[in-house]
Amino acid sequence: MKFSIIVATDRNGGIGHNNKIPWHQPADLKRFRELTMNHPLILGRKTWESIGRPLPGRTMIVLSATAVHGERGLPQSGVLLARDIKQAIEMASQCGERAFIAGGEQIYSLFMNRVDRIYLTIIDGDFACDRFFHLPTDKWEICEQAFSNPDEKNPLPMQFLELRRV
Ligand SMILES: NC(=O)c1ccc[n+]([C@@H]2O[C@H](COP(=O)([O-])OP(=O)(O)OC[C@H]3O[C@@H](n4cnc5c(N)ncnc54)[C@H](OP(=O)(O)O)[C@@H]3O)[C@@H](O)[C@H]2O)c1
Repeated sequence: MKFSIIVATDRNGGIGHNNKIPWHQPADLKRFRELTMNHPLILGRKTWESIGRPLPGRTMIVLSATAVHGERGLPQSGVLLARDIKQAIEMASQCGERAFIAGGEQIYSLFMNRVDRIYLTIIDGDFACDRFFHLPTDKWEICEQAFSNPDEKNPLPMQFLELRRV
């Protein structure tokens, strides 16, 4: 089983505020959809509550030690409830060979040692954030890099990076 992180940060590594993503950049949501389509997603209970609905074409595996079965939409069709990392990995391995780690801060940290790819979007702005993505300190190389200019729908420039563990 292989794991990729997919994450968008501001210039300071911020990823969220009050359990929401503090920017609206539809081009990054489109990239998220394209990269993750047909792969399982592993996410934390808070991120699940923030998204609030199943995402089509992807089994969502929600990590929660406390969620009561049958509440908070857990589980439902296409959305599985995992009680710990071992169970999440077992569930993901039933759904494909590569799973995407879709946040938030706690779940990125939990999986960091297991991932071999990071799809990182850097939004070129500064936002008030209370959750952060901590870039790993071990060796990673940039294998793809692209830039996007602002337009009428995407107010800020973005940088799209694919990092691979060396
Ligand atoms: N910018 C981005 O790309 C991006 C992507 C995703 C999320 N976000 C943002 O990130 C923020 C949420 O991050 P967060 O760190 O607060 O929460 P989170 O990582 O989404 O979820 C945390 C929850 O996951 C469960 N959990 C964590 N470790 C576990 C383990 N070992 N076993 C079982 N369950 C475990 C716990 O749920 P229980 O308390 O129920 O046990 C914990 O409260 C939001 O602001 C969201 O918008 C941003």
